[in-house]
Amino acid sequence: MAITIRTISEAFAAECADIDLSAPINGPTLGKIKDAFAAHPVLLFRGQSLTPKQQIAYSRKFGELEIHVSKQYLLSEHPEILLLTNERNPDGSRISIADGGTGWHSDLSYLAKPAMGSLLYAVRTPSDPKSAQDTEWCDMYRAYETLPDDIRRRIDGLNAIHVFNQDLNPRMPPIDTRYRDKHTSAVRDLTPPVKHPIVRTHPVTGRKSLYVSIRFTVGIADIDEKEGAELLDQLFDHQRRPEFRFLHRWTAGDLIMWDNRCTNHRAVGKVAELPNIRRMHRTTLSGDSPY
Ligand code: OGA
Ligand code: MN
Repeated sequence: MAITIRTISEAFAAECADIDLSAPINGPTLGKIKDAFAAHPVLLFRGQSLTPKQQIAYSRKFGELEIHVSKQYLLSEHPEILLLTNERNPDGSRISIADGGTGWHSDLSYLAKPAMGSLLYAVRTPSDPKSAQDTEWCDMYRAYETLPDDIRRRIDGLNAIHVFNQDLNPRMPPIDTRYRDKHTSAVRDLTPPVKHPIVRTHPVTGRKSLYVSIRFTVGIADIDEKEGAELLDQLFDHQRRPEFRFLHRWTAGDLIMWDNRCTNHRAVGKVAELPNIRRMHRTTLSGDSPY
C-alpha cells in the first residue's frame, strides 16, 4: 500500500500512514516522506514496531546521527539512541534520564552545530492515563511570521546566547536530581555558551523562523543585558501562544520525527510513577550552523 499523508495541525504537523518503518523503504516513498517533512516539520507515524537497529537505520536515511554529550543516558549497545525513561535499577537508582524535555527547546541548540531533527519512538507508555507524559511542539515559522513588525525589525541580525547547563538559566527551575544528573565538568567543558541568529532561515524551505527557546537561550549578544532579557521574555510569551502548538498523547508504537530548525518542543506532565513505565528512544540528526 502506498504511503498516505494527512495534515493534523494547522499544516505544521501531519500523520503518515500505511508505512512500516522497520521494512526497507523505496526511493519514491522516501522522497514523499522528505517532501512531507519540508511541508510539515512534525511527522507522526503510528503503529510501528522498531528495534533500536531499525530506528537507527530509518533515521540515517535523513542524515548523520548525533551521539549525545551525556553519555550515561545512551543505550549501551546503541549509543545513537538516547534513552528517556522512568525505569530504575533493582537498587532503585535511575537507569537514564526521566525528564529530558522540560521547558520549550530545540534539541542541541547549545551546540555550534545544533541538531537538524530528532526522532522519538514510544517503546512503552504508562497504562494509567493519569501517569501519561505528553509532548508538545510549536511552529516557530508561524511564531516568527506573526511577530509585530517593530519586533521583527529589532531582532533582525541579532544573535542569542544558548547554554546547556540549566543552573545558568534563571528562567528554568533547578535540576531535579531524582530524574536527571547535574552536569559533570566534562559535559560543561564540551558545551561552552554558543551564539546563534535569533531569526533562522531554513535551508530547504527558505522560510524564516524564530530560533530561541526558554530552556537554552539565556541572553542576547551585544545589547544591554536588561533590554535583552525583556526582549527574550516577549519572544517566549509570543511563541507559546496556543495557536502555534500541537500536543501529542503517546501510544506505544508511535514515532514522531521533527525538524529542530523551525519548531520548539517540550514534555508536558509529571514524570510517570512506577509501576507505570514510560520508555522512549530518541535518535538525533546532526545539523549545520544556523544562518
Ligand atoms: C526529546 C524531548 C520530550 C518528551 O526527546 O528531545 O524533548 O516528552 N522529549 O520526552
Ligand atoms: Mn528535546
